[in-house]
Amino acid sequence: MLKFSPNLIINLIKNLLGKGPHPLHEPSMGREEIDFVNRTIKKNFVSTKGIYVQKFEKRIQNYTNSKYVSSLINGTQAIFIALKVLNIKSNDEVLVPALTFIGTVNAITYLGAEPHFVDSRIDDFGIDCKKLENYLSKIVVIKNNKSVNKKTGRIIKAIIPVHVFGHPCDIEGVMNLSKKFKLKVVEDAAECFGSFYKKKHLGTFGDIGCLSFNGNKIITTGGGGAVLTSNKKINDKIKHLITTAKVEHKWEYIHDQVGFNFRLPSLNAAFGIAQIKKINQFLKLKRKLFLKYQNVFNKIEGVKLYKEKKHSKSNYWLQTIILEKKFCHFKNALIKNGHKKKIYMRPAWRLISELKPYKKKQKMNLDGSRKIYKQVINLPSSQALVK
Ligand SMILES: Cc1ncc(COP(=O)(O)O)c(C=O)c1O
Repeated sequence: MLKFSPNLIINLIKNLLGKGPHPLHEPSMGREEIDFVNRTIKKNFVSTKGIYVQKFEKRIQNYTNSKYVSSLINGTQAIFIALKVLNIKSNDEVLVPALTFIGTVNAITYLGAEPHFVDSRIDDFGIDCKKLENYLSKIVVIKNNKSVNKKTGRIIKAIIPVHVFGHPCDIEGVMNLSKKFKLKVVEDAAECFGSFYKKKHLGTFGDIGCLSFNGNKIITTGGGGAVLTSNKKINDKIKHLITTAKVEHKWEYIHDQVGFNFRLPSLNAAFGIAQIKKINQFLKLKRKLFLKYQNVFNKIEGVKLYKEKKHSKSNYWLQTIILEKKFCHFKNALIKNGHKKKIYMRPAWRLISELKPYKKKQKMNLDGSRKIYKQVINLPSSQALVK
């Protein structure tokens, strides 16, 4: 075993990846994307009416085995619209991990609802369901088939489990809690296209699942997202709302409620088709990169490369190392040295509950999330890093 040292780790990563620079995650794209985008331009339909939107949705549907798919402009608005169609309103509470991307939490706030922060565990970076069950048992009273927060008097209506860095969270635990406490479930699978739990695609367990195709994801449409559901009524509502609530008519402009202009343009969808065709190749490369990193980190004391858990098939979107407690004071030095050598490693997110807009919101004990923030570093993870 090699002795832990930030310099040694950076040098070994540099030897592995080559000269650099090495961003955290870069998109892989080429001729096929250009061809597909050209086809949309030639058809003169680059906007939301173009044929590639439906084709892209069909591809996602087939790949995820989700009954219904609606593509839209980004993952954040996918979560927003999911909560909206599940009737989350001003003053409702929504349980959400403190350890997530801020978009997850902003989507709750856009509706005037209240985020209520819950803890995550280092085992899979997702919600600690045992701890949450204990917490909810203390703070909740069930009235008229609804969970009422005894302290605030508000209804806790939904939970957003987040699958972090490509890895499934304890989704079975979340589904059990949702039954016990009468919660709607919106899965944030933004980072998880290509990830499965017990052979079921992430985002297809809850009432609604949300994906992101932002430029930093495993497949991208530039910017984009999708909502997955097995419920036709929900899907119809979503499609209607994201299409400005326009009633079908050949020429009249009739809108039956305040809708949103959230649909994905055909230009982006065409790009996405070229990307989705390569998903199996991307997944192979991600695994290859994992094995390469594993060869390095197996040799160093005090640091472990995160490996998918039993029953999980991860897309390994971001490769992740976990520092042993006694070495976590080196975290910032490691990231800083890495940046100096153009190895752009990143820490996990700051806890959203500690950021200015969300400091005063309801929260449970968040020691697990703090532990993750202290011990975890993401490594450069682009599929293009391996051949
Ligand atoms: C966990 C998580 N949730 C939500 C989002 C929001 O997706 P988007 O950037 O497409 O709005 C992202 C990605 O950026 C994410 O990583």
